[in-house]
Amino acid sequence: EQIEKGGYDHFMLKEIHEQPTAIKDTYRGRMLPDEGLIRMAGVDDNLERIANAKRILIVACGTSWHAGLVAEYIFEELARIPVEVEYASEFRYRNPIISEKDVIIAISQSGETADTMAAIKLAKEKGAFAFGVCNVVGSSISRETHAGAYTHAGPEIGVASTKAFTTQITVLTLMALKLAKHNGTISNTDFMTYLQEMERIPAKIEKALEGDEHIKMIADIYKDARNCLYLGRGFNFPVALEGALKLKEISYIHAEGYPAAEMKHGPIALIDEEMPVVVIATKKGHYEKVVSNIQEIKSRSGKIIAIVTEGDEEVRDLADHVIEVPETLEPLTPLLTTIPLQLLSYHIAVLLGKNVDQPRNLAKSVTVE
Ligand code: AGP
Repeated sequence: EQIEKGGYDHFMLKEIHEQPTAIKDTYRGRMLPDEGLIRMAGVDDNLERIANAKRILIVACGTSWHAGLVAEYIFEELARIPVEVEYASEFRYRNPIISEKDVIIAISQSGETADTMAAIKLAKEKGAFAFGVCNVVGSSISRETHAGAYTHAGPEIGVASTKAFTTQITVLTLMALKLAKHNGTISNTDFMTYLQEMERIPAKIEKALEGDEHIKMIADIYKDARNCLYLGRGFNFPVALEGALKLKEISYIHAEGYPAAEMKHGPIALIDEEMPVVVIATKKGHYEKVVSNIQEIKSRSGKIIAIVTEGDEEVRDLADHVIEVPETLEPLTPLLTTIPLQLLSYHIAVLLGKNVDQPRNLAKSVTVE
């Protein structure tokens, strides 16, 4: 097992550090900037069906559901196709309205999640086209769907999902860009700009990983917190949800993720000097609005840990701690902002002596309903 961990203390840490390579593996052979195109067999073979979808329905659970939420923002921004994202477990137990013009995308690392599998079967019965985004090759969901795209993240052993999340976002971004190009909702120049920036993402993740020691120091300060709030807006709202899930899963600290603007509709009542608030405040992304949310937290004595764009000065003056990530195109920021949140939860759990790779009560794939 020590050999399998490749010198890291835990699989989770190894998998966090594998993300630059995993993302390259995800886009290798698919993203062809020299030819100005994206090749994805599962999409290419069904291009008209997918590109002409009246709506895309995304079904998933847990972290994969969070990747679906990021994809909703990306698909709507780039490809201008309406998207709905649903917990697979809810979808299957109501009587959803699905037509033959719908495309259902099921996202699942393991490809074995029972609720996600059942949601696909239901959608197929109602005539929808089912597309799978799985990591495990030959898994049940990859076989049940009409077509799909593998994430190629390599085996993910840690129960807390890390590289599966970022590679799911990568695949779905490629798909959105491909559909956008086909449907003419993106200019050739912008399309090329995205491809070139995608190629820079692995190096930018490496840069974000360099914050590890600084994040460990922050983890040490907040490891005894009873609660923690995560806030983000736009593309980074799902990242806030994912950050909170990571902390809950492996450190057993209660954490909630919220869209930053929702804070004033309730969660603000929780804020006092005992409450750490992790805020994703990267440039662009409603930056000024997030800064005013930070001011609201500060005036109530909340402790602010802000994820900011490299070189940011404004938030640095307000926050108790800042963690920098490199700048990128706004829809791609989740691929970077996720990294420090993974490291923060990892270090808190290690400092608390928890079983990081196999947290209590959790299984890697949930094959029961
Ligand atoms: C993630 O950290 C969790 N362990 C869990 O939420 C997981 O994402 C969920 O069970 C879905 O699994 P799947 O992607 O294999 O379908």
